[in-house]
Amino acid sequence: MTATHTETRLKITPLSGWTGALIEGADLSAPLAVEQIDGIRAALHQWKVLFFRDQSLDHAAQIAFGAQFGDVTPGHPYEGDSAPAGFPQIHTVSPAAYDHRYGTKYRKRLSPNGPGWHADVTPLINPPSHSILRAEQVPAYGGDTQFTNVAAVYAGLSETVREFIDELRAEHRFGATVSAERSAEKIGDLVRSNPLASIHPVVRVHPETGEKVVYVNPSFTREIVNLAPRESRHVLELLFEEIARPEYSVRFKWEPGSVAFWDNRAALHLAPRDFEHVEGDRVLHRITLVGDVPVGPDGVASESISGDYFGAA
Ligand code: SIN
Repeated sequence: MTATHTETRLKITPLSGWTGALIEGADLSAPLAVEQIDGIRAALHQWKVLFFRDQSLDHAAQIAFGAQFGDVTPGHPYEGDSAPAGFPQIHTVSPAAYDHRYGTKYRKRLSPNGPGWHADVTPLINPPSHSILRAEQVPAYGGDTQFTNVAAVYAGLSETVREFIDELRAEHRFGATVSAERSAEKIGDLVRSNPLASIHPVVRVHPETGEKVVYVNPSFTREIVNLAPRESRHVLELLFEEIARPEYSVRFKWEPGSVAFWDNRAALHLAPRDFEHVEGDRVLHRITLVGDVPVGPDGVASESISGDYFGAA
């Protein structure tokens, strides 16, 4: 199905049943019309991640694009000195950038929870509301990113399980699955000097759509706090398996100039693991927008264990 918003001249082409749409008819390097901003917001509410092709953005233009949708954060709470000069909002995603930021072994460590589906920086008390990732350089093949819709994941659970998880809360922690605190690499210093951890509702009510979303992820969620450890492990396993169901997801093939814009409260993403097996570098740049503090179905907000509110850059 292809829909056209005549008033905005955006062409919106869904790419799977639940997740992702390609948007044509917007030049992201120029200020958008109010109708285009509204059209993009509405499409994000429905499809959770939007893709744009052939965009000519540099760091400044990417930040200006994002600023039309919210306040832009610093690149990452652990950015250190790795942001490009003059652009503290830019978080570069490439093997070299990760090695520089965290140390060479950290990137290659695999999570015991299997594929690292995640939303960006959920250990923060206010994880980013949106992320915008732009491709500068990509290999000819490989390096695809997958996205999934966690409102669909919630809606797909049986009513009994939905009611059960509505009550739960979970700890999210940077290094939840790979013992970053004990690392002798740079990541260890970062996590020890500024540990990031919060207790979030397992089900979050989306502040704009009112949808309930499954708000745990295999990269940052350590445990469900009010269950016995074995119960927590099994409940998380169930939710992680549901999150990874292929029918909810979409797979995006990058080209230079591609942009992915996702609602970080309603979508999870999975970075590729194959790009080091193909020829050519992969360099992408991400910005994030200031997020709100999650609230559960009972109206109770998240609590910080450690780490500061992540405000505008
Ligand atoms: C990320 O996990 O934020 C990066 C995604 C990617 O490398 O495709």
